[in-house]
Amino acid sequence: MLKSEIKKYIHQSFKKVAKKNNWPLLSINDIPLETPAIEQFGDYSTTIAFLISKNVKKSPLEIAEILVKEMNLQLPNKILKVEIAKNGFINFYLNPIFIQKQLEKILKNKETFGFSKKGKKEKIVIDYSSPNIAKPMHIGHLRSTIIGEALANLYECLGYQVIRWNYLGDWGTQFGKLIAAYKLWGNKKEIEKAPIATLLHLYRKFHQELKNNPELEKFGQQEFKKLEQGNKENRKLWLWFKKESLKEFEKIYHLLNIKFDLFVSESFFEKDLLPLINSLHKKGLTQESQGAIIIPLEKYGLPPALIQKSDEASLYLTRDLALISYRFKKYQPIKILYVVGNEQDIHFKQVFTLAKILFPKQKTELAHVKFGLVLSTEKKKFSTREGELISLDQVINEAIEKSLEIIKKKNTDWPLKKQEKLAQAIALGALKFNDLKSFRTLDVVFDWDKMLDFSGNTSVYLQYTYARINKILTKAKKTKNIKPNYLSLNHPLEIQLIKKLSEFPEIIELSAEKYAPNYLATYLLSLADLSNQYYESVPVLKEENKDRLQAQLNLLQTITQILKNGLQILGIQVLKEI
Ligand code: ARG
Repeated sequence: MLKSEIKKYIHQSFKKVAKKNNWPLLSINDIPLETPAIEQFGDYSTTIAFLISKNVKKSPLEIAEILVKEMNLQLPNKILKVEIAKNGFINFYLNPIFIQKQLEKILKNKETFGFSKKGKKEKIVIDYSSPNIAKPMHIGHLRSTIIGEALANLYECLGYQVIRWNYLGDWGTQFGKLIAAYKLWGNKKEIEKAPIATLLHLYRKFHQELKNNPELEKFGQQEFKKLEQGNKENRKLWLWFKKESLKEFEKIYHLLNIKFDLFVSESFFEKDLLPLINSLHKKGLTQESQGAIIIPLEKYGLPPALIQKSDEASLYLTRDLALISYRFKKYQPIKILYVVGNEQDIHFKQVFTLAKILFPKQKTELAHVKFGLVLSTEKKKFSTREGELISLDQVINEAIEKSLEIIKKKNTDWPLKKQEKLAQAIALGALKFNDLKSFRTLDVVFDWDKMLDFSGNTSVYLQYTYARINKILTKAKKTKNIKPNYLSLNHPLEIQLIKKLSEFPEIIELSAEKYAPNYLATYLLSLADLSNQYYESVPVLKEENKDRLQAQLNLLQTITQILKNGLQILGIQVLKEI
């Protein structure tokens, strides 16, 4: 809010000067504006003069002088002064009264502060989580689920209509193998008891046996053919595997408190594939290569796209093309986001390139929102000692156990139920925050001690700060008929806090625009840092001046509101007591 107003002001002055001097124009979004780390450099600072000097024959200092002269001609009362520092930085000092007044604005909007209608109900499809049936959902799917959900919440806050889409992997030749394995060695009861583990075991056994008995390959292929052709028995088995797998996935989603709008999966596009492949033929895009069908993409610097295998089985990539076409037609979304790991980079480059060739008029923005690996403390891929990927329920349960251990030591007098509830909120928060706090393409390290550190850069630190402020608020007796005196909030930390709070809407926009919830996560951490400094150095509860006290309490209340809003967007629960 504050920031965008300053930007507007810079932009207006800049436009005038640029016209007079024949400088290239800048759009308002390209104007750099930072919050200086050191207070004496003002409330905000811009490097616009350096940016312009790249294109005109003047030094940054000269440009800054011209600009500031213009700015001073129409200095709004919000701004106390504009100054030039070090070779051309321009620093802005705000009028404290103006900052204090921001608090009133925020208070008016409360729960909806930071929300906007900017998205105009335009549709955004977010493809996330998307595990494969009959296989455990792993830590990579967890990361996709967490990042995808945060993005969905962010875009919803901005007034978009978000379609949360879980595109399950439930088609492909592997299901022929699985059916074959079940027919050979399967046991209904075992599957019912532990569906995914048993199915995984069957699938692995099939591959092991294949080494001694190559005939099995054909058996698997036949079973898949039968499944494709609608053979009743195979269809029933496959549906059953799917149902049982989904039951297990749902448990995890329930625990994470995540709901999808759609579970339209890979198999849904089975019927579209032949017509799609035919239209690719007709457009003259395809080539045959050793019995398989490919589309060369050399021109685009990409490996050829494999459209159909030599045994005529369809492929992940072909299904993704059918999926994109369906999404275009049915939803006309302005964006489709695919929240999938870095390792599928080439795959999505191929899909997007082909989509552009096939639907040249389509304006939908396609983005592969990629993310890095989850590593163990030894910086190795996250796995058990046997080298298998750890399954998710194991991870979640471990998190809850660890948190409960801590809570039992900390809150000894609490009843077990209450301890467990808190442990669950802390554990899930820690899991989610660990995936969200750094930029998504970076690998994240899974280190319980760090993730559950009450004073580290963690969610529990945020939850704790929330609870601590809440305690102050309950202790303080709020008097209804006293008018808060916002102008009395002139402690430097109070000014800093209000400034920080007013940045919240911009942070939401930035996080959404860059598909990077880490901006919001880091913002919340710095808000919490300031808040902690504040209540440690300013004893609010001892304030005797009632109208100042009232303003301080409102400030604290606003902080809790923003912490809650922000954490909710990240999918993390806040608790009144910790
Ligand atoms: N099921 C895939 C996997 O586990 C992810 C699917 C992502 N979405 C998509 N449209 N390809 O790797």
